[in-house]
Amino acid sequence: MNNCILALETSCDETAASLCTLDGRLLSSRLFSQIEIHRVYGGVVPEVASRNHITKVRPLVEAVLEEARASLSDVAAFAATCGPGLVSSLLIGTSIAKALAVAEGKPFLAMNHMEAHLLSPFVELGKVEPGLGLIVSGGHTMLVRINGVGSYEILGRTRDDAAGEALDKTARMLGLPYPGGPEIEKKAVTGNPAAYDFPRSRLAGSPFDFSFSGLKTSVLYELPKLDLSQPQVLADVCASVLEAVVSVLVEKTAHAARHFGLKTIAVSGGVSCNKRLRAALAERCAKDGLRLLLAPPSLCTDNAGMVAFAAAQRFATGMTSPLEQEVDPNWRIDA
Ligand code: KG4
Ligand code: ZN
Repeated sequence: MNNCILALETSCDETAASLCTLDGRLLSSRLFSQIEIHRVYGGVVPEVASRNHITKVRPLVEAVLEEARASLSDVAAFAATCGPGLVSSLLIGTSIAKALAVAEGKPFLAMNHMEAHLLSPFVELGKVEPGLGLIVSGGHTMLVRINGVGSYEILGRTRDDAAGEALDKTARMLGLPYPGGPEIEKKAVTGNPAAYDFPRSRLAGSPFDFSFSGLKTSVLYELPKLDLSQPQVLADVCASVLEAVVSVLVEKTAHAARHFGLKTIAVSGGVSCNKRLRAALAERCAKDGLRLLLAPPSLCTDNAGMVAFAAAQRFATGMTSPLEQEVDPNWRIDA
């Protein structure tokens, strides 16, 4: 029938597969999260991640095909995340998608993980529109001008830690489990966001770049003075850390929108699951007359639905990739 796209995502520690129509409507999306497996190590172990991708990817492909009542012969193109990410993880999904493409005699699409995040807020809309993208994930924090599918300009990025990374590292210092973002969110609910004045870095001369490493240093200095066994102290620290991250993200996004005259704001990446960030963005966008697009939480953290949607957008404009295309751990979204 040739009427859908199969996408695989294995860039880090989530093994995921998804099937979507050629116009990007998601038919099925499945994921095996390795978070529990890596939690004992306090972070992702590449060797362990790739071994798990190998065993999980086939059942996931079978499951998405079954859920959509489709077979491999219905797939018009096979897509996989080719970067950025861990090479040993990227190789699994990419090799399998290429093998399926060859076996079925269909095209292959090499997908950029950051592009997939960037376009995820447009899934519900069913098409991509020009605007300002804010990507806040565990590995990246960037402001991107979206001109159209495949045409992106990086307006600002983090100089050091990504927003999610800063939350993860801070959580670890506070004795909270990995990944730290959701843990900080939970503890922050009963905390006072003004209890501690953690730094909100403003980089002179680079108003759209970010720096989050000072935050964890500041928490580190505060640590000896804190009695974290008291639930209210921990809640106040978490709420204050989250507020420092959220206020910088909202402020710089609003500033970039104003500066570049962009009216649609598309926010993506794991940290955009955060309810405080979502509420603060909604409030600011309403005040500034901006249209805010947020992906549902299931499309914010790593998943294959966002890869399938982005692949469909590319495929619709006639883009495919050569089988020789290598994985690239540092693949830039504007390359
Ligand atoms: O996009 P993602 O799943 O993976 C990357 O491509 O990096 O993002 C993972 C990041 C982690 O740092 C995690 O702590 C953070 O997203 N995160 C959150 C929340 N859920 C995930 N941060 C704050 N609040 C959350 N609810
Ligand atoms: Zn990601």
